[in-house]
Amino acid sequence: MNTRMRRAAVIVAAGAMAVSLAACGSAKESGGSDKSSGSEKKGDNIKVGLLLPENQTARYEKFDRPLIEKKIKELTNNKGEVVYANAKQDATLQNQQVETMITNKVDVLILDAVDAAAIKNSVQKAKDAGIPVVAYDRLAQGPIDAYTSFDNVTVGRTQGEALLEALGDKAKSGKIVMMNGSSTDPNAAQFKKGAHEVLDGKVNIGKEYDTNEWKPENANKNMEGAISALGKKNIIGVYSANDGMAGGIITALKAAGIKVPVTGQDAELAGVQRIVAGEQYMSVYKPYAPEANAAAEMAVALAQGKSLDSIAKDKVDSPTNKGIPAVLVPVTSLTQDNIKDTVVKDGVYTIDEICTAQYKKACEKIGLK
Ligand code: BGC
Repeated sequence: MNTRMRRAAVIVAAGAMAVSLAACGSAKESGGSDKSSGSEKKGDNIKVGLLLPENQTARYEKFDRPLIEKKIKELTNNKGEVVYANAKQDATLQNQQVETMITNKVDVLILDAVDAAAIKNSVQKAKDAGIPVVAYDRLAQGPIDAYTSFDNVTVGRTQGEALLEALGDKAKSGKIVMMNGSSTDPNAAQFKKGAHEVLDGKVNIGKEYDTNEWKPENANKNMEGAISALGKKNIIGVYSANDGMAGGIITALKAAGIKVPVTGQDAELAGVQRIVAGEQYMSVYKPYAPEANAAAEMAVALAQGKSLDSIAKDKVDSPTNKGIPAVLVPVTSLTQDNIKDTVVKDGVYTIDEICTAQYKKACEKIGLK
């Protein structure tokens, strides 16, 4: 109860802050010199290394990358440069990408780790080279200077609560299957923790998987395995940690003729369309702009040697480091009822993008127009 209240307070504070972030642009002053040598502080001519973990999940190329690049430009009078690398789910490749960026003398790194533990030495190398590191979305181990993400335990709780709501009185009438994310991603452990906090004791968990590399095809195979192990008639719902995997899971369910509530996360266009069509029960809407903007603000401030005090109001601990300044952005459960008030209102998708020919009827049915 106490933890929950505290968490709620953190979320409210983070929400207020995310709003004020957009307005105040605290790291915005462009004064100071552009010289990059000696003890002189950096000006607008900074080089930001951006490292994202994979490109199968739509968010990274569609939202995170363009939003961060745009904000960096905005904060540096168009002078800041972003050097980008996507690790395509390969932790070894991501270590090499960090080293290349160190060699190329970036001024700061924004890092979304494939494997939070495996990247630790590279984070240390950046630190040793005087390059600050902002952990993005996933909290990498090692000497991280700042972090921005969502409250990921709350994401898991939100998914679990929605699944319980969808099951109603039938929650104990059969078994649910849990499809968690990749075990190399610390967020996956937090989603799983939050979901278990809500679901344990309220449902029977028939099968549970950690999904290798977050891959939809792995979730699809695991779902096929769960169906043959538990039997078609006994499965009443599926906890899926994200929308990409929900796609693979729903394909397996459909092939077996099963229609049960499935959760998700990311508010991907395909996920939102499945929600419209009643194939997926919910997603978690995580507004990417405030997360991306916070990362850009903190990266620019760190590169320019400015304080993070006005930006990062929270603190988080990683397994290796304590008290990392953080910005945590609040999340919303997304179901058929609030598509208009969330992703449409925030300009993530237009109604036309969601309600294509294939989904027109379903959109009309739920009054989405
Ligand atoms: C992110 C999710 C994403 C997943 C797979 C997690 O760390 O928070 O938004 O779906 O990784 O890339």
